[in-house]
Amino acid sequence: MVTQAREAIILVGGMGTRLRPLTVHRAKPLLPVAGVPCIEHQLANLAAAGISHVVLATSYRAETFTEVLGDGSALGLRLDYVSEDEPLGTGGAIRNAAALLESGPHDAVVVLNGDVLSGHDLSTQVAMHIQRRADLTLHLTVVDDARAFGCVPTDGSGRVLAFLEKMPQPVSNQVNAGCYVFRRAVIDAIPTGRVVSVERETFPALLQADAVVLGYVEQAYWLDLGTPAALVAGSRDLVLGRMRSAALPGPVGEALVLPGARVAADAVVEAGSCVGPGASVGPGAQVLGSVLLEGAQVHAGAVLRDSIVGAGAVIGAGCVLKDAVIGDGAEVGADNELLGGIRVWCGARIGPAVVRFSSDR
Ligand code: GTP
Repeated sequence: MVTQAREAIILVGGMGTRLRPLTVHRAKPLLPVAGVPCIEHQLANLAAAGISHVVLATSYRAETFTEVLGDGSALGLRLDYVSEDEPLGTGGAIRNAAALLESGPHDAVVVLNGDVLSGHDLSTQVAMHIQRRADLTLHLTVVDDARAFGCVPTDGSGRVLAFLEKMPQPVSNQVNAGCYVFRRAVIDAIPTGRVVSVERETFPALLQADAVVLGYVEQAYWLDLGTPAALVAGSRDLVLGRMRSAALPGPVGEALVLPGARVAADAVVEAGSCVGPGASVGPGAQVLGSVLLEGAQVHAGAVLRDSIVGAGAVIGAGCVLKDAVIGDGAEVGADNELLGGIRVWCGARIGPAVVRFSSDR
């Protein structure tokens, strides 16, 4: 009997609209999180669980994936790519990618949403699926407040009872964590050539058909990287070692400064910040819990908290940023204050502040 899965599909075709402008030039799974494209943390996890072949289901900015990840050999995996001319939804994308799978009809195939950072034990999830001869086994995580999610109650044996839409008083705080183990034949039964949502169509239909649909409940570190705040938090958690990843390109610590970055001797870079290759932090600047993408410049005395600065963007001397998102190539003149989730578009120019703000730094 086969005891582990060998193949996986990762869904990476979404437009990442909630992350704009960071996703203007690259797809969400290629945005750096703790110094490497966030998908590399997932690929490292898959390799550790014995997966050897991964099919990436691309659509938005499809060409950027091959440029960054190549054939996967550097990551110890074989990567293949399929692209949808028009996005097919999660189910349509899985069905489309299955054309490149080599597994037999009863083998286990892992499917991941390409924007989740998860420390759960994938090998145990796969083992549960195989031992229980399931058709589908979903990783379910437990959240404090499930109102923002659809919830997935299970019975005492782990069988999923329902897939429920968002509701004011959820009956369970177990939610779909975006990592599935499918029996290959279940994927092959998804209709071809049209938009299909696994969450809204395939999963409820499996329950209707009395298929064996299991919930693997594990409350490990889990974060949906769909928003700028989550992306910054995920990077920070990896740098600080709150979430472990074999893909982290340096030791765990207060900051991750990548090769080719320059940090002035009296600058402060800490609280899980990541300074990308070729980025610079000027004298007296403070970069706290923040992310600087490649070639970003933070000039003297600027203070950044919980912010992300895009590739090649420039933050002028004395600026104060908190929860700010700065697009690639933007330039923020000296002494500006950008607070409270503000987003500056790629290439935008903001002149120097005329009045010096007096915020509490
Ligand atoms: P937002 O636009 O910010 O909601 O992000 P998103 O487009 O990535 O959508 P969402 O977070 O709901 O998608 C969950 C996962 O499925 C992500 O990894 C997406 O890349 C992926 N995904 C969503 N729709 C499609 C699709 O039509 N095709 C493919 N290949 N992947 C998809």
